[in-house]
Amino acid sequence: DMMREVLGLKELERKIKKKLPVEDVIVVAGDSDQSPWVKREMGRACVSRIKHSLKGNDIVAVTGGTTLAAVAEMMTPDVKYRDVLFVPARGGLGEDVTNQANTICARMAEKAMGHYRLLHVPDQLSAETYQSIIEEPAIKEVLELIKSSTIVIHGIGDAKTMAERRKTPPAEMTKIEQNKAVAEAFGYYFNQYGEVVHKVNTVGIQLEDVRHVPCVIAVAGGASKAKAIQAYMKQANRCILITDEGAAKQLVRDD
Ligand code: F6P
Repeated sequence: DMMREVLGLKELERKIKKKLPVEDVIVVAGDSDQSPWVKREMGRACVSRIKHSLKGNDIVAVTGGTTLAAVAEMMTPDVKYRDVLFVPARGGLGEDVTNQANTICARMAEKAMGHYRLLHVPDQLSAETYQSIIEEPAIKEVLELIKSSTIVIHGIGDAKTMAERRKTPPAEMTKIEQNKAVAEAFGYYFNQYGEVVHKVNTVGIQLEDVRHVPCVIAVAGGASKAKAIQAYMKQANRCILITDEGAAKQLVRDD
């Protein structure tokens, strides 16, 4: 901690707490936009924060993305995970296999030596298919487990970057742009005031559910995500932010 004080990371944490309504914040050294290994440092910080919050028989829901993949890579086994169940937070959001919540959930559970359940639903469902799929008993059971999550760990992305990475259809793309979305998390797109301007239709945790989860940890870094983090936090409630110096410096600079 002495080292983190000397490096100015503690000071950045104090400034962020003053500026954003976060429950807690951890800033790691570096900028993940420039140095990919910084994601692993955020991952390490996240893993130790999770352990700190475990009660025993927790249900841990995780989202996809490269940052959450780094969290999974840094996960280490612990007796505390013996009765912990890992689940994906939401169904497919158009990510490549390595970045999907299911893949990350399984990897994290294996590394922790805990248990996991996966959600097998296709991306971009029609309204009718969506309704019949959520009535399937096997799916319903996993969805109920997801809704009773005690810990949620999620990424935050820049809206445009995410919409492009997901190969969003043109009509939705126009909606996202016209409504000036700046942030994305859980398949929800937010404007700079933290208002939802678009939502990907999929099963799993909904934004309303997140508000009732006792422990929510957002992991997102890189200067390019500062605006997205700031916008997302405007609507978040008791969220623990794990970020890097690149995003933090930009965050305390922006108005
Ligand atoms: O698509 C899943 C997701 O968690 C998004 O909600 C988020 O915006 C994105 O991944 C973050 O991805 P990355 O960590 O690769 O920037």
